Amino acid sequence: MPKSKGVRSSQHTAKKESDFHSIAGAWLAIVKRILTKHSGKSWLYQVAQYIDMNAGTGWQEGDGGGLGSALIVPDLAQTLHVPLQCYLCEMHPPTLDRLFENVAMARGSFEILEGDHRERIPELAARWALERALRYTLLYFDGNADSEIPTATIRCLTELDCLRKMDVLLHVSGNSIKRARGKGLERSRLDQIVAEIGKQHVHIQRPDAKWQWTFLLFSDSPILNDKFRKLDFRNVKETQGREWLERLSYTKPELEAQRQPTLPDFSAIPHLPRVSPASGILGGESAGDETGGRHLRAVQKEEGDRAAPPTLPGMGDF
Ligand SMILES: C[S@@+](CC[C@H](N)C(=O)[O-])C[C@H]1O[C@@H](n2cnc3c(N)ncnc32)[C@H](O)[C@@H]1O
Repeated sequence: MPKSKGVRSSQHTAKKESDFHSIAGAWLAIVKRILTKHSGKSWLYQVAQYIDMNAGTGWQEGDGGGLGSALIVPDLAQTLHVPLQCYLCEMHPPTLDRLFENVAMARGSFEILEGDHRERIPELAARWALERALRYTLLYFDGNADSEIPTATIRCLTELDCLRKMDVLLHVSGNSIKRARGKGLERSRLDQIVAEIGKQHVHIQRPDAKWQWTFLLFSDSPILNDKFRKLDFRNVKETQGREWLERLSYTKPELEAQRQPTLPDFSAIPHLPRVSPASGILGGESAGDETGGRHLRAVQKEEGDRAAPPTLPGMGDF
């Protein structure tokens, strides 16, 4: 049973870690094939990289336990025999202490970045600014429910030449982002965040339950294979993916307003014949006047053309 009905129930955390395990496994399998195929090539850095912007303790707190994201990826890499370097960022001091303890007991190659990822990640980017060999990298953002998604920080990595093949994975609550906007906090909509990250292929997972938790996977390669489809990922260019992204970007009233054709304001139209309340037919000055009837139909048609429902923002651009 879930312990809490809040934004993050333990049931949700278990699903998140299980999905993350499958996503990371599918990603490592793809990268392993690339590293094997191009083994020894100087243009390719021969070690995969994992950057966790919100490492946590490396362990799932609460019921049952189990590995957290920071230790899931290196554990999988050991099993799949993929050489991997991990960069783990965490800012909360007690969580950091636990992370150091858990990493000390784990197998793998780790660098812990202590502090706010908005400072540590640009420093990491500066270290790689002159690197040319391509580094296959997975960047993961899994903030707290109310965390702002730091797209500028993410972009300082995606813009590096050596990270042009970096894939980005976000775990976010659509509902929390919309609520933050509703409270007047300056937050981008999810579709704006997608555009800001600026990758060619964007895959979204079916939103989960009331808080609309979802994973978004960004890549410049068409990474969406059967494994991702089984995890309920769709490209946002597909009807279903686009529909999910819209639902997570806009509130219900916003979506309804976009779909609702606006009725013409008849009172503002000059010379509009009045409707006779008694007969329900055209009355007043134009009663029985064929010209008035034609005029009304012409005005209605013109207004109808103008009132066509607006199209939703151009997902075809992503
Ligand atoms: C949801 S938890 C991460 C859970 C982890 N990804 C896992 O699967 O086990 C979010 C973590 O991000 C950390 N955090 C929040 N904002 C941060 C920031 N700006 N920089 C670094 N860490 C941050 C929090 O202290 C917290 O430990």
